[in-house]
Amino acid sequence: MNKDYNFQTKAIHIGNKPNKESGSVSPPIHLTSTFEQEKVGSDKGFDYSRGGNPTRKRLEENLAVLENGDFGLAFSSGMAATTALFQTLESGDHIIIGRNVYGGTYRMSVKVMSKLGLNVEFVDTRSSELICSAIKKSTKLIFVETPTNPLLELCDIKKVAEICKENEIVLAVDNTFMSPYGQSPLSLGADVVMHSATKFIGGHSDLLAGALITSNPNIADKLYFVQKSVGAVPSPFDCWLMLRSTKTMALRVQKQSDNALKIAKRLELSSDFKSVIYPGLESHPQYELAKKQQVNPEGDSIFGSMVSLKCGSIKKRDKFIAKLRLFTLAESLGGVESLISVPYEMTHAAVPPVIKESMGLTNDLVRLSFGVECVEDLYHDILSAINE
Ligand SMILES: Cc1ncc(COP(=O)(O)O)c(C=O)c1O
Repeated sequence: MNKDYNFQTKAIHIGNKPNKESGSVSPPIHLTSTFEQEKVGSDKGFDYSRGGNPTRKRLEENLAVLENGDFGLAFSSGMAATTALFQTLESGDHIIIGRNVYGGTYRMSVKVMSKLGLNVEFVDTRSSELICSAIKKSTKLIFVETPTNPLLELCDIKKVAEICKENEIVLAVDNTFMSPYGQSPLSLGADVVMHSATKFIGGHSDLLAGALITSNPNIADKLYFVQKSVGAVPSPFDCWLMLRSTKTMALRVQKQSDNALKIAKRLELSSDFKSVIYPGLESHPQYELAKKQQVNPEGDSIFGSMVSLKCGSIKKRDKFIAKLRLFTLAESLGGVESLISVPYEMTHAAVPPVIKESMGLTNDLVRLSFGVECVEDLYHDILSAINE
């Protein structure tokens, strides 16, 4: 299919051609572990579902195109995707990782990869100077999250991509918080995009999955090898659910982000919270970078659906959470329903308290994930919960 179509058209059509056998407009779910071979060594492109499955292939094509890449690979979770990327490296290699990445990425890097001989170093990736000074001869990968979870700090992808090119280092961007609709790291020079597809790609809080996308055939070969050899692949049913969900991703993510922006602006004007952290507020120290880096396919700046609020005390935090009616206290984000979490205790529980506090991740901080509900209902829910 013509790659020049716009995002929304590609989201609906790529990987979604009617089934040849029956003509069904909605693609079939290939619930099979294995495939008939007409004779030894002759198959129809699939032999065993760990290596490839037609439903997964449709999804992988869809995700690759939506991220402006050539090769897409689906995994059974976001962590499985990041782990697969790290597994393409060798013992002794050095990885620079953003200092306030998702707690699970921190835990896997420190507690699993370090034991296997990878040398991981956490750096404040807001600063290209700090990144440059951390680079060693053995640095093979820089892995950044932008915006970060939950402090919403940004990394200048274009600038870091230039540094990586000069030093022959692979740049991978965890694009989970923006989704393929809100930010295009490969177009900005990154080599690999990673997603916790559990979030905006799934979009309905009903599945766990991950993805890696690249346009570099050498990297793609290594990733396909790990995907097939290690086998952390999603089920055909979950692939089908994602293929169905990416059709509405543009509508969902735009509405979620519009809700977040409207409410963040109003909350900033009140004195109900000690601070309101959101890249779409002019008070955010990297607002200008957010405006130019986070752009939707229509060319408009988009700031995401995540807002972090500092309540001032744990008592105030708990009272606020208990009074909310529309925001469910739960891990995760990116679904159509609004959620609230306490990253200090939940998603970042694995990060030592001194490290969290040194970054400004305090125990009074709550992270809101805006869904697609009516913005006024969400706003009134927050207002009444904080003032009750
Ligand atoms: C930014 C980010 N990256 C990676 C992950 C891990 O993804 P998963 O939970 O799908 O393994 C998460 C999960 O919350 C996340 O928020």
